[in-house]
Amino acid sequence: MKQLWSEQQSEQDLMRNRELISMGKMPRHCAIIMDGNGRWAQERSKPRVAGHEEGIESVRDIVKVSSQLDIKYLTLYAFSMENWKRPQPEVNVLMVLLERYLRQEIQELHDNNVRLNAIGKLNALPKKVNTLLHEAMEKTKNNTGLFLTLALSYSGRWDVNRAVQLIAHDVRRGKLSPEDITEEHFATYLQTHTMPDPDLVIRTSGEMRLSNFLLWETAYSEIYVTECMWPDFRRNAYYEALRDYMTRERRFGKTSAQIHNESSKSVFQKVMDAFHPLS
Ligand code: FPP
Repeated sequence: MKQLWSEQQSEQDLMRNRELISMGKMPRHCAIIMDGNGRWAQERSKPRVAGHEEGIESVRDIVKVSSQLDIKYLTLYAFSMENWKRPQPEVNVLMVLLERYLRQEIQELHDNNVRLNAIGKLNALPKKVNTLLHEAMEKTKNNTGLFLTLALSYSGRWDVNRAVQLIAHDVRRGKLSPEDITEEHFATYLQTHTMPDPDLVIRTSGEMRLSNFLLWETAYSEIYVTECMWPDFRRNAYYEALRDYMTRERRFGKTSAQIHNESSKSVFQKVMDAFHPLS
């Protein structure tokens, strides 16, 4: 049997991983807009699809290192609803690559305790890809390690719109009254209801946009944009993004003083709990 990812770390990776984990603020959910495949290829006078092929190597490395770092949720924006408007040959290649990725990786993902999930209008995907995705989700559904979500034929507005339709049906059938539609309840109708909101959104290739990605869920996410093109985005670039994230102060609308106060209170509470565990 192949070595598990936890056993595949070099001395240097182990040291880096330990150093990052010891910073103590690892994001629970990291979401990535993988961009720049086409430009990466064009800069090398290659066809755009060569960038997508190389981009899969980045997917492999980032999934593996996320699992090694014990990040709980990783969401990858692999194909937007708007991407259907690309030239048909490019769309076809992307679907073939996706199919190949699923066929080749699923056993390794499963062996490494990864749970595969997908969001988006999945029935718009070619039947073969859709079937493979559902088989992969079924096979890995009891895994407890990294929760890996592929956003495919996905659009944030589409998901919000879909949630509104589902809610309207429930109101019409008398299952729900309009007063019960709180933010928390609304979120249970989104396809992302099985995961926490992203703590960190990374976008490669320097573009400063969300491009219809997780529009509801990113209200308080930290955003990190790097000039690095996706096919070049491997673990070292990821470490940099994570380190940057861990130096940020997340205030969720509060003041810096309040945040400091709360964190010193929680340290105080932990010390008190250690002395009086039942108080
Ligand atoms: C954006 O680059 C990338 C995509 C639209 C597709 C991303 C797909 C992969 C990385 C491969 C398949 C994924 C999985 C999960 C197996 P772009 O083409 O928009 O680049 P550009 O902005 O430079 O043109």
